Amino acid sequence: MRRLVLSVATALALATAATPALAAGEAEHPRQQEWSFSGIFGTYDRAAVQRGFQVYKEVCSACHALMQKSYRHLSQIGFSEDEIRAIAAQYQVQDGPNDEGEMFERPARAADRFKRPFPNEQAARAANNGAYPVDLSLIVKARHDGANYVYSLLTGYKDAPAGKEVGEGMYYNPYFPGAQIGMASPLNPDAVTYADGTKATVEQMAKDVTYFLAWAAEPELEARKRLGVQSVLFLIVLSCMLYAVKRKVWADVHH
Ligand code: HEC
Repeated sequence: MRRLVLSVATALALATAATPALAAGEAEHPRQQEWSFSGIFGTYDRAAVQRGFQVYKEVCSACHALMQKSYRHLSQIGFSEDEIRAIAAQYQVQDGPNDEGEMFERPARAADRFKRPFPNEQAARAANNGAYPVDLSLIVKARHDGANYVYSLLTGYKDAPAGKEVGEGMYYNPYFPGAQIGMASPLNPDAVTYADGTKATVEQMAKDVTYFLAWAAEPELEARKRLGVQSVLFLIVLSCMLYAVKRKVWADVHH
């Protein structure tokens, strides 16, 4: 009996010791939101994706590239060709060489990639206190629970709890690994003015830009889900037909 009590106590002690204390790089679990693209019938809320593009364009694109997207891709989220041409033309991109061998600048065209804010990583770091603003093209897929992570990060800035050291040029954010991040809170109320009259609260903009980044990371999501639903429907119909055939074939066989 003593042996048993002892071994139970040892097992308990071991189990407690094996539960890891939150490691230094640990982050808080993202706050779960409802997204129109979750679930098997999920689709992108077009209006939200378009508002999110505005947030990306007017706020995030000052630091973050989106190199996997070209302006023409905006047709997938409901922009017309004329609108896309006008959006692209707001940017100057380098082209060339011309007949004299010189590189030159020209307004961007629909086929050009989104203009990146910095020519290279070193320049991006130099402008951001050494921290690197990653390309956001795939961020929603590249991070665990990506949409909720991006949303939580953008809305999660707060004062550091007592006793928590935050490095110079860093900001407390429990959703970033290590709970401090080299990006100041990028969203302030009314940072953008939405054409559709939606009030631009921090939560609203964070949600919208997450919709946009989710679309950017997985533009084929709607087609993929549609195909899944169609395949299941097809299999149901096929099963019914096979069952009917089976009954007919065996109808005359008496036991
Ligand atoms: C002034 C520059 C700046 C702006 C504007 C900015 N960011 Fe950042 N962002 C950064 C930097 C620098 C980092 C890297 C921080 C680090 O590594 O500590 C970062 C990191 C991030 C991360 C974390 C990436 C990861 O590795 O998990 C996300 C997500 C992000 N930014 C999204 C956005 C979004 C969305 C916007 C627009 C609403 C935005 N940022 C606006 C500079 C900026």
